[in-house]
Amino acid sequence: MQTKLTVNGEAQTVEHDPRATLLDTLRDGLGLSGTKKGCDHGQCGACTVLLDGERVNSCLCLTAMHDGQEVTTIEGIGSPDKLSALQKAFVEKDGYQCGYCTPGQIMSATALLQEMQKGQASYVSDDLEVPKLTDDEMAERMSGNLCRCSAYPLIREAIAMVA
Ligand code: FES
Repeated sequence: MQTKLTVNGEAQTVEHDPRATLLDTLRDGLGLSGTKKGCDHGQCGACTVLLDGERVNSCLCLTAMHDGQEVTTIEGIGSPDKLSALQKAFVEKDGYQCGYCTPGQIMSATALLQEMQKGQASYVSDDLEVPKLTDDEMAERMSGNLCRCSAYPLIREAIAMVA
């Protein structure tokens, strides 16, 4: 079957098995291997992408159910020559060890920063003029992304640097 998606700003018509997940369509159908497969069961967050601006675990999304929607992957927010502010911060703060979870962490953090900008981050401390997340609040909002190497404090430092 075919599904139309806009992936990283480009209109795509993808041919796929009706049971294909968005994760497999991105990786195997479109060659966007930056999105990682960890658990394939919605538990690790390695496959996080933005779907119409909202973070989702792409391993839990059936491609066929997202016809006409917009997908942003790690490839869509920066490139090796032109890293996004968050990607630079992860490098600067060593916000990774093996790096396998990093694309998912950065996509979740991208969504988190966008939620803060829109004032949708419900944990934003309201006693500050500039919205700011505490370390605990950030840990909770990033809790869907697991890091087997336990680089959590450095990941949060990287996000805080951009926030
Ligand atoms: Fe999707 Fe783990 S691969 S949540």
